[in-house]
Amino acid sequence: MVELNILPRPPISANPTNLAYGRRGLVYDNQVKAETDALYERVRGVISSLEWPAFAPLIAAINRLKKERDAVILAHNYMTAEIFNCVGDFRGDSLGLAREAANVSAKVIVQAGVHFMAETSKILSPDKTVLIPSLEAGCSLAASITGEDVALIKQKHPGIPVVTYVNTTAEVKAQSDICCTSSNAIQVVETIARQWGVDQVILLPDEYLAKNVAAQTKIKILAWGGKCEVHERFTPDDIAEIRASHSGAVILAHPECPPDVVAASDFTGSTGAMSDYVEFHKPKKVVLITECSMSDNVAVANPDVEFIKPCNLCPHMKMITLEAIYDALLNLRHEVVLDPVVSARAKKAVDAMLALPPAPAGIFDPTRPVPANLEII
Ligand code: 13P
Ligand code: SF4
Repeated sequence: MVELNILPRPPISANPTNLAYGRRGLVYDNQVKAETDALYERVRGVISSLEWPAFAPLIAAINRLKKERDAVILAHNYMTAEIFNCVGDFRGDSLGLAREAANVSAKVIVQAGVHFMAETSKILSPDKTVLIPSLEAGCSLAASITGEDVALIKQKHPGIPVVTYVNTTAEVKAQSDICCTSSNAIQVVETIARQWGVDQVILLPDEYLAKNVAAQTKIKILAWGGKCEVHERFTPDDIAEIRASHSGAVILAHPECPPDVVAASDFTGSTGAMSDYVEFHKPKKVVLITECSMSDNVAVANPDVEFIKPCNLCPHMKMITLEAIYDALLNLRHEVVLDPVVSARAKKAVDAMLALPPAPAGIFDPTRPVPANLEII
């Protein structure tokens, strides 16, 4: 199990802001209603009017606290609709959020996402206070490999560049030559192989992402056996059932899904690429083969598209709630703290990725088989 680099802070009980909110209480009164009515209009298609009075007081309080703290919230596409749409300042996939984190001018960044995303923000903005609202927001991929594992792999395979998915700890990134996300993995693999003049690349730690990338490139991929506990559960039978019961639905899959699921789908791309696909093509009916909440968020922006929602929740993403965000801002916890040497080394790998031009979307061609020369190391 990988250790989380977090210093929990005790609550600041004497803080005047704390007392003010304690006295006011978080109730759905006329002031909160006036402050949040416009936000409810945005999400009324996915949040019922019965649920809203429970969310609205926290949303209003968080939005006030953000101003007091000079804070911004970076919200991943897997956040629930009330977080993503009502308190998120920047929204998107892990690459988009990393780009925002590098340019944020506010003093405090609250990561509405999982821990590796908060670490990436801290790596890119080391002078900012970066908060992760829940200590339990981990990731099965990030937990699958350590910095020592990568050091050993490099010893065994000298001269081969190491590409690591951003879904890893800072220690793993620090051992890498370049990072990638699901938006740009093929482009990163091909670029680094060309730069190093080699025909093979180590791509860690997601086995299925590595296989899906290997199907799209002539570069030999040396892969690790990590899996996303959400995407590994989808099967080709699920896709066949969806096709049988929802004729005409367009099926979009995330590249962390097994290759036979990708092969059975119509399009594969990052959460951002799936969202752009719906925005651009406006299919009548669509299925997102990924985490549950994403469909609600894309539905808010595309009310005329019908979403069929196969539901696999990421338990880590779901640790981030409005309550946890409110608590994080109120008490400035849990602050992400990184070893400066590790952080500086990890930054080189993240910066190398961010220096690349935007990758073309939709480059996972589902008809290409996984080549036999992929090796699990
Ligand atoms: P994206 O980079 O596509 O946003 O994916 C992040 C993630 O955790 C997917 O499971
Ligand atoms: Fe990690 Fe999978 Fe959750 Fe994404 S969905 S954070 S890869 S466990």
